[in-house]
Amino acid sequence: MKKILVTGGLGFIGSHTVVELQNEGFEVVIIDDLSNSSLDVLKGISSITGKTPNYENIDLKEKALVEQFFQKHKDISGVIHFAASKAVGESVQMPLHYYENNLNTLIYTLKEVIGLDESNFIFSSSCTVYGQAEEMPITEKAPVQPAESPYGNTKQIGEEIIMDTCYVNPELNAIALRYFNPIGAHPSAKIGELPIGVPQNLVPYITQTAAGLRECLSVFGNDYPTEDGTCIRDYIHVVDLAKAHVVALQRLLNGKNTSNFESFNIGTGVGSSVLEVIKTFERVSGQSLNYIFAPRRQGDVISAYAHTEKANKILGWKAVLTLDDAIRSAWHWEKQIRNI
Ligand code: UFG
Repeated sequence: MKKILVTGGLGFIGSHTVVELQNEGFEVVIIDDLSNSSLDVLKGISSITGKTPNYENIDLKEKALVEQFFQKHKDISGVIHFAASKAVGESVQMPLHYYENNLNTLIYTLKEVIGLDESNFIFSSSCTVYGQAEEMPITEKAPVQPAESPYGNTKQIGEEIIMDTCYVNPELNAIALRYFNPIGAHPSAKIGELPIGVPQNLVPYITQTAAGLRECLSVFGNDYPTEDGTCIRDYIHVVDLAKAHVVALQRLLNGKNTSNFESFNIGTGVGSSVLEVIKTFERVSGQSLNYIFAPRRQGDVISAYAHTEKANKILGWKAVLTLDDAIRSAWHWEKQIRNI
């Protein structure tokens, strides 16, 4: 049984990935500092899979602790690195926190991965590296554009750090997965997205509004040059996204990668407008949503959806769950945590 380290494994995408890894027979060790998660997630994971992963509460900015951890776990065969701060707006207010956290944790982890017998590394990247791409759908060949936020910049710099490290360390094999918009929850509703405070992202804002925690959703902008005037995104079910990590890891473990740094878009290939997401929610939940049109939000691109052929052909991965599935699961999760 191969041992895999998942940093940030109690977070939204991390926890779903741990479940899929365990389902595929991997032994999982989680590192999480609980800065944006809780130990209840560990219980949720165990109740889905029947297996409790090893867990250590380590702040990956503490270099000595990271070194100690890897001294104890020399038999790790792969690392999936999620641990990072991820709120775009907050990153504009607290740039140094974002650079310090997201880059140091990456550097200290990567340094140790190089020393392992099997140096396999999966990095949690983002479609934010493309900015407003000129052509839709976005291929991996689209130029990386100047970042719109310190958060986005940490993803770009992160990829560069890994690429440069791969260049001089041929034994290191890395894949960057560029996610589009992850939404939804595990169908069991035992794990899901739990934003702290007011949600910044569309789907948790919708489900919290429907659950009565928020009065009204503001739709940011209805004068964009799109069919209904609202922005278009590629919403991907978190379970499909989690499975992409397992497939990418297996590619590295089986030595199937053709270069020691590869990147893949992870999306559905389908663009949906904000109004389409709202209509989908109303249809699958059977309830109407309170929303108003508000001014555009700073930094939003008009449209972003993925060209998925590279992931389909090379990784052999394809999103199978629909927007309906994702919204239904997000609502199921929201109702479960609010006792509705
Ligand atoms: N939106 C609203 N009202 C809200 C929240 C969002 O209308 O209350 C709209 C946004 O304006 C946007 C769409 O819903 O048009 C999606 O917004 P999200 O905040 O859910 O997602 P983003 O596309 O802005 O952000 C995602 C990830 C980030 C990543 C970014 C890169 O959450 O981690 O893509 O573009 F950096």
